[in-house]
Amino acid sequence: MYNRKTIADNIFYVGVNDRQKNLFENYLPLPGGVAYNSYLIIDEKITLIDTVDASLADVYLAKIEAVLQGRAIDYLIVNHMEPDHAGSIGLLKQKYPNLQIVGNRKTFDMLNGYFGINTQLHEVKEGDTLSLGKRTLTFYMAPMVHWPEVMVAYENSDKILFSADAFGTFGTVDGDYLDACINTDKYWDEMRRYYACIVGKFGAPTQNALKKIATLDVQIICSTHGPVWKQEREKVVDLYDKWSRYEAEEEGVVIAFGSMYGHTQQLTEAVAEGITAEGIKNVVIYNVSKTDTSFILSDIFRYKGLIIGSPTYMGGIYPLIEQLLFSIEHRGIKNRLYSCFGSFTWAGAATKQLTAFAQTMGWELVGTPVENKQAVFAQKYQEGFELGQAMGQKLKSLR
Ligand SMILES: Cc1cc2nc3c(=O)[nH]c(=O)nc-3n(C[C@H](O)[C@H](O)[C@H](O)COP(=O)(O)O)c2cc1C
Ligand SMILES: [Fe+2]
Ligand SMILES: [Fe+2]
Repeated sequence: MYNRKTIADNIFYVGVNDRQKNLFENYLPLPGGVAYNSYLIIDEKITLIDTVDASLADVYLAKIEAVLQGRAIDYLIVNHMEPDHAGSIGLLKQKYPNLQIVGNRKTFDMLNGYFGINTQLHEVKEGDTLSLGKRTLTFYMAPMVHWPEVMVAYENSDKILFSADAFGTFGTVDGDYLDACINTDKYWDEMRRYYACIVGKFGAPTQNALKKIATLDVQIICSTHGPVWKQEREKVVDLYDKWSRYEAEEEGVVIAFGSMYGHTQQLTEAVAEGITAEGIKNVVIYNVSKTDTSFILSDIFRYKGLIIGSPTYMGGIYPLIEQLLFSIEHRGIKNRLYSCFGSFTWAGAATKQLTAFAQTMGWELVGTPVENKQAVFAQKYQEGFELGQAMGQKLKSLR
């Protein structure tokens, strides 16, 4: 039996869990799966908000039918056209041919492009309202959180924000969807990783959306991925505010290194010892060959300090470190304290290029980058230690 519980009077959660997919957008690991959320409002006008990935359409349509018991859907609100949410629009339209699709002009361009649907449309603009009967929805545009057509819908009587991808997280919805009824611990790291990878490039547009949301009295946040946020809604908004300003959450350092034969790794140990010797407790070390970039990016959003180590590889930087640098640059991460180190055997290049990365990003370079030739002897180990100390001292100066 589906849908025993409502979010508010006659508002049903009809989302689905994806426990099969290994990679979100076919490249981001999903160790805890992902939920595609959709919400059904029973009012004079029966209204569905967003749909789900087409791979789960059968489960989804059954959930909807369990609530509707033969009634038809009047409105489908399309807040976001990415296929993880728009994927079931075609099937819904077949099953409920009279439904009107509510979106903005950009939504409708995409709707036509993806589904060839260009009739029975109800266009909304910034601040427009739509009466469902007892309830009214107001629409606010949120371009680039995460695509250009994204908008959010605010329900004014129970003060619910249907926020599309904003405030979403990786991780399935297990048992209950309401934050107060579950242990939400597992979501915080995954919410940051989701933000860092999916929305992280769009800090400024996210700030714009947050400014609009700040003018609303929001009591419940219904995003398209993960739990419904009621008890923890302020925490969730605060986190999004921090991340979209590229402000670190706490004191600490990420050391991301690549190493083929262990020399760059030895320097990593030296640098880490230097940091902890200064009393900095949060030192997170990632071997880029073992950990997917998305987890490293997530911790780069979390901590203020970042130190990158790479061997010289064919006259350049180790490939997996290059990939990490690209991911960081692509997201325009701001205001990090940064340093680097590297190793080589005949003509060093990695350390120089990693040093130049500070300028590329407009970051402060902390301490003296360390470049090691061949085996790591005591002198270089000491330099690595001192580099770590310099980072530790710099962080302490910010306390
Ligand atoms: C495929 C390959 C390419 C390399 N290219 C260079 C290079 O262009 N210049 C250089 O000085 N050393 C080069 N090296 C040597 C490494 O940079 C050097 O051995 C370094 O200490 C390796 O660090 P690691 O022990 O952390 O892997 C290369 C090594 C390998 C395996
Ligand atoms: Fe999206
Ligand atoms: Fe999404």
